[in-house]
Amino acid sequence: MMHLLRQAVLPLAMFAGPLWAGGLTPSERQAGAELYQRCQGCHALAYDRTGPRHCGLFGRRAGSVEGYGYSQAMRDANIVWSRQTLDRFLAGPLKMIPGTTMGYAGIAEPSQRALLIGYLEWASTSATLCPNQ
Ligand code: HEC
Repeated sequence: MMHLLRQAVLPLAMFAGPLWAGGLTPSERQAGAELYQRCQGCHALAYDRTGPRHCGLFGRRAGSVEGYGYSQAMRDANIVWSRQTLDRFLAGPLKMIPGTTMGYAGIAEPSQRALLIGYLEWASTSATLCPNQ
């Protein structure tokens, strides 16, 4: 799996920036950015859409973006977003938070979740992508 992934993204690595952002190599981060496109039908990093913004996600309490209309289930979830909680949520959103209005089945493949979460950790703290953090 990782072998295939590296093959697919290797050419992109040549254009990538400094090493080791969010625990990922530049080519892994690029793969994570491509996986994030699955989220961008509903989410943006810097502003709320169908789903809440992702800037500032790590360390944030679930359901706590001011002005965004969460479900009661998300407001009551009582979790803080981290690599671990995101991994569980993205594996099966409705399993972890029954009643969430996030209409997304989840990402079954653990290595894909790891790439996506690594990308999100980098992007959600980036001064360029998240200038208002
Ligand atoms: C079909 C639209 C849709 C897609 C696709 C989607 N989301 Fe969501 N997401 C939502 C909605 C709506 C909510 C708010 C859920 C609630 O209030 O129960 C949400 C909430 C979240 C939250 C909780 C944020 C917070 O502030 O507590 C995270 C984290 C999240 N989504 C990550 C993702 C990721 C990562 C992906 C891509 C793999 C994704 N979502 C794909 C609609 C979507």
